[in-house]
Amino acid sequence: MPCGMDAKILAIANQKGGVGKTTTAVNLGSALVRRGKKVLLVDLDPHACATLHGRIYPEDLHISLYDIFLSLDGDWTKIWPRLIRTNVLHGLDLAPGSIRLADLETDLLQQRAKGSILARSLKHILPRYDFIVLDCPPHVGILLVNALVAADLLVIPIQTDFLALHGLKLLFDTLNTLNKVLPEPVRYRAVPTMYDMRTKACRRVLELMQEKMGPALFNTIIGVDTRFREASAMGCTIFDIDNRSRGALCYEALAGEVLELWQ
Ligand SMILES: Nc1ncnc2c1ncn2[C@@H]1O[C@H](COP(=O)(O)OP(=O)(O)OP(=O)(O)O)[C@@H](O)[C@H]1O
Ligand SMILES: [Mg+2]
Repeated sequence: MPCGMDAKILAIANQKGGVGKTTTAVNLGSALVRRGKKVLLVDLDPHACATLHGRIYPEDLHISLYDIFLSLDGDWTKIWPRLIRTNVLHGLDLAPGSIRLADLETDLLQQRAKGSILARSLKHILPRYDFIVLDCPPHVGILLVNALVAADLLVIPIQTDFLALHGLKLLFDTLNTLNKVLPEPVRYRAVPTMYDMRTKACRRVLELMQEKMGPALFNTIIGVDTRFREASAMGCTIFDIDNRSRGALCYEALAGEVLELWQ
């Protein structure tokens, strides 16, 4: 059962590709379910990787998040229940994405208040969940803006790789622009991913991140673990593969830190 308060919305975003956004959305979401929380995973990526991860095939669906973005406010209460697939990954609910989400950039061109569609539509289902996790696409655009406007917390996975820090400027530019018009600035935390402690370069990048981001960094560091790839190929979570694996323990620790933020 949800805890009786409205769901907290976590946007998992970084405009850089392949840094662990979907892996974090799926496994952090599952770790929160394992803590007894009611969690909805929302797939905002036109490539629909999180949807595929849940073994749902977008081409088989009559309805996707795209319909939420193009509907009138009054229809949202009817669309959410048709859209949400319950218990897709061991208790995790999923709102599937679709390649059509890529059309929104042009479809919404003339639309008023187009940056807050997701936030306004999610209001209808907030009481049903403890957490809503948004898996964002790897670029800056209308979907990312909608995610940031809706978010109570922006979680930024950063690959512990030398080039990873450079790409962040674009994300922070978007964040700063939005913060000027939002009632309060978006709260954020970064999490280092794919960390390999045997590699000197990884260790150096982690130090650099700690230096630059300080308290905006979670304490948890997600280590490199081949079982993540295995899990996504099999359409399951790392907890299904081995719930004592290093990767599983990392996301359990991250879930603990996320929960502490609202205690
Ligand atoms: N900690 C990790 N250790 C090893 N492999 C990982 C780890 N995290 C993610 N991966 C693998 O790296 C690849 C990219 O991860 P993922 O799909 O989560 O990134 P993404 O940021 O969502 O990518 P995109 O920008 O394309 O949406 C996947 O094959 C995933 O299994
Ligand atoms: Mg992804």
